Amino acid sequence: MNLSVRIGRLQLPNPVLVASGTFGYGVEYAELVDLNQLGAVVVKGICLEPVPGNPPPRTVEVTGGLINAIGLQGPGFDGFMAKYWPFLRTLKIPVIINIWGKTVDEYAEIARRFDSVEGVGALELNVSCPNIKAGGAQFGTDIKALARVVAACRAATRLPLITKLSPNVVNIAPYAAAAEEAGSDALSIMNSYPAMAIDIEARRPKLGNITGGLTGPCIKPIALKLVWDAASAVKIPIIGIGGIQTAADALEFIMAGATAVAIGTANFYEPQTALRVIAGIRQYMHEHGIQDIRELVGAARQVANSTPAPPTRSAPHS
Ligand SMILES: Cc1cc2nc3c(=O)[nH]c(=O)nc-3n(C[C@H](O)[C@H](O)[C@H](O)COP(=O)(O)O)c2cc1C
Repeated sequence: MNLSVRIGRLQLPNPVLVASGTFGYGVEYAELVDLNQLGAVVVKGICLEPVPGNPPPRTVEVTGGLINAIGLQGPGFDGFMAKYWPFLRTLKIPVIINIWGKTVDEYAEIARRFDSVEGVGALELNVSCPNIKAGGAQFGTDIKALARVVAACRAATRLPLITKLSPNVVNIAPYAAAAEEAGSDALSIMNSYPAMAIDIEARRPKLGNITGGLTGPCIKPIALKLVWDAASAVKIPIIGIGGIQTAADALEFIMAGATAVAIGTANFYEPQTALRVIAGIRQYMHEHGIQDIRELVGAARQVANSTPAPPTRSAPHS
C-alpha cells in the first residue's frame, strides 16, 4: 500500500502531520511518540525575534474543544536555530517550519533566513497575525494583504510554501485562489476560530488575553466544509486541520479533497493520536482494497458530482 503524498515538491512518507503549536518543537514529544513514523512535524510558529506571549491563563477547555491565546510565544530565529534545530535535523521525516511576521517585510525576511538552512522541508505561513501596517486587521482576512505576504515569501525562498488560511472569512474560496496565484504550493486549512469563555463567578473572561482561538473536535465540521470549499477553487494540495481525533475524521478530510491532514489539540490529551490515525487509515485501505491513498483524495467529491444531492429545505439553517 502506498501512503506517501506530495506537498509541492516535498514528499511525505504518509499523509498524517502534527499541527503547529500543538507539538512544541518535536523534542517535547520524543519520549512519547516515535517521531519518525509521522508524515511530518510542523513546529510552533517562529518569527524573527523572541516573543514572550500573552499573560496567563492562556488556555481554557470548553465543550468539545479548547480556546487558546498563547500569543505566538517563541524563541525567535536565532533561539530556534540554537536550541531546537540540532534535534529536529536528526529526524528522518520532513520538518515544516511555521513562520509569521508583523509586516510583509518580516515574513519575507524570516522566509529568507530559513531558505539558507539545510534540511528544512517546507515553510508554513501563519497568516492569522495582526497586520500592523494596514491597521490591525489580519493578513489572512484581507485578500490583498494575503496575496502580498505569499508573493513576498515566494520571492524570498525556493522552499515549498504552505499558506495556512484563517477560517474567519465569509467565503474561503477566493482566499485559497489568491494564495495559489501568489505562488503558494499548498494550503493548510484551518487555523483556530476566534472565541472566548467567561467565568461567571469572577464575572470576567477566562483568558488573560480575553479572547482566543477555538480548536478541537467541535471545529471539525466547520474545517471540513472549508476544505471542501477551498478544494473547489484550487489545484494545489490542501492539508486538512481541525478537530481530527480518529482515522475516520482524517478520511473525511481526505475525501473532501485534502491530500494530507494534521493533528492538533488531540496531541495534548493523547500524544499517540497521529500514529493511531496512520494505523487506522492503513486498516481502512486494507479493508476497502485501496492500493494508494491518493485514490481517496476528493473521493466524496466525485460522488457528490455524479449523484443528485438529497432535497434540502430552502429556509436558512437554524
Ligand atoms: C495551543 C495552540 C497553539 C497553536 N499555535 C499555532 C501556531 O503557532 N501557528 C499556527 O499556524 N497555528 C497554531 N495553532 C493552530 C493549530 O495548528 C491548528 O490549526 C488548530 O489547532 C486546529 O486543529 P485542531 O482542532 O486539531 O487543534 C495552535 C493551536 C493551539 C491549540
